[in-house]
Amino acid sequence: MKSLNQNIVFIGFMGCGKSSIAKAVSQQTGCLFVDTDGLIEMSENKKIKDIFQENSEKYFRECEKKVFDFLLPTKNVCISVGGGFPIYINHSLKSLGVIVYLKKSFDAIISSLTQKDIDNRPLLKDIDRAKKIYESRIKLYEKQADVILDITHQDINEVCLDIVDKLKI
Ligand code: S3P
Repeated sequence: MKSLNQNIVFIGFMGCGKSSIAKAVSQQTGCLFVDTDGLIEMSENKKIKDIFQENSEKYFRECEKKVFDFLLPTKNVCISVGGGFPIYINHSLKSLGVIVYLKKSFDAIISSLTQKDIDNRPLLKDIDRAKKIYESRIKLYEKQADVILDITHQDINEVCLDIVDKLKI
């Protein structure tokens, strides 16, 4: 296993492919892979959409903060974070590791998703509202990023190679 000596944190808008890419990079490097939504679903024993519906978005954001604290002492993990994670955590994500922003156009994201993918994401249900959220977040993602990759026209293998090259891993 290649020792990164830090985590790689993948940020980007909902549905841009963070989890698949983080998983692929983890396989390439032998690192662990975790997904913050996955940790929350396991810990709450509920799907994210049910947490939004039965608890609230505020409750979900509190879960994200607990996950942030949980991950702080970790190393050598490829971490895929929910699209709102960098926005609602009141700390720089840099304390978690090197931040890779996976940038993809809104239209490309939406056209790649199935109805099930959309139904699983409460903030994607209203497409006009989702576009506004997308536009309001771009600058914040860019501000947190150490590396920005425009993945709009790339497949997962190309993105993976780019990451390995840019991070020299
Ligand atoms: C959210 C993104 C989702 C999930 C939740 C809220 C957001 O994760 O955390 O539905 O605020 O952008 P993905 O980015 O994996 O879709």
